[in-house]
Amino acid sequence: MPQPAAVGRDERTVLFLLERATAYLAERGAASPRLDAELLLASALGVDRLALYLRFDARPPTDKVDRFRELLRRRGEGMPVAYLTGKREFWSLEFEVTTDVLIPRPETETLVETALAIWPPGSGQAGWFVDVGTGCGNLAIALAREWPLARFVAVDRSAAALGVALRNAAKHGVGERVFFLCGDWLSAFARRPLFVGMISNPPYIGAADFASLPAEVEREPRAALDGGADGLHFFRALATGASCLVREGGWLLAEVGAGQAQAVRSIWEEAGFRDIQVRRDLGGMDRVVVGRRR
Ligand SMILES: C[S@@+](CC[C@H](N)C(=O)[O-])C[C@H]1O[C@@H](n2cnc3c(N)ncnc32)[C@H](O)[C@@H]1O
Repeated sequence: MPQPAAVGRDERTVLFLLERATAYLAERGAASPRLDAELLLASALGVDRLALYLRFDARPPTDKVDRFRELLRRRGEGMPVAYLTGKREFWSLEFEVTTDVLIPRPETETLVETALAIWPPGSGQAGWFVDVGTGCGNLAIALAREWPLARFVAVDRSAAALGVALRNAAKHGVGERVFFLCGDWLSAFARRPLFVGMISNPPYIGAADFASLPAEVEREPRAALDGGADGLHFFRALATGASCLVREGGWLLAEVGAGQAQAVRSIWEEAGFRDIQVRRDLGGMDRVVVGRRR
């Protein structure tokens, strides 16, 4: 780590540790070095991040400082903060994450917002929904909390991811309404229109785009990212699946990657979906496509 700028200061205080760690991570190209340093120090000390601000002058015990240094070293090597702390916030809920799951992204909240615009919370929305490629369960769990009468099937091919999702559902009190299924996409379902809605943040990185992914994203499971040669494989699979499994008048909603919205719109139109709309995320990017089953 770089040497302290100020001479004569107590080098063991929370504030000093944070300042030095921030400089260390900035040198290694972290995009948000101060925030990362705070999250890692809070994790090492077993406290809330904001609690650090109340104890800038405290001198943490050596074992916790050692733990912090180890986390910092791994962060400096490019390991995402969420994998180091084992948690990530999504829809104001804290989710457990491990290297078996994609780290939930803020832009994926657009999918939750879109679903809530179709089925407003408090409207007593009942019925069955399916979340395809659930990962840590963030989408199904966030929506189950908003719709206390709804039930979900949350599918993933990764048994390890489903283990994480199961714990998250229990933690957020929706374990009795979210049912997890390990399977290859929608192949386990009988071809009956069981669902009111199908929701998915599918893998959508195309083969050509893998080379330009940020190094941190390469730490995430390949199966959570790989959308086939053109990145659109799972949008076709969603259209095929929803045509059989979503009720007439029900909705299909999916997150899309940069520049994919119009291609997804065409695929779904060809598959017979109507009322297709594209919604933008807070950054102004086309992020979610929705379509209605005829
Ligand atoms: C982009 S991640 C989405 C995770 C989570 N829903 C989210 O929004 O953060 C896609 C998920 O699809 C799963 N997946 C990939 N291929 C699959 C398949 N053939 N069948 C079922 N799940 C699959 C991956 O394991 C991964 O958890």
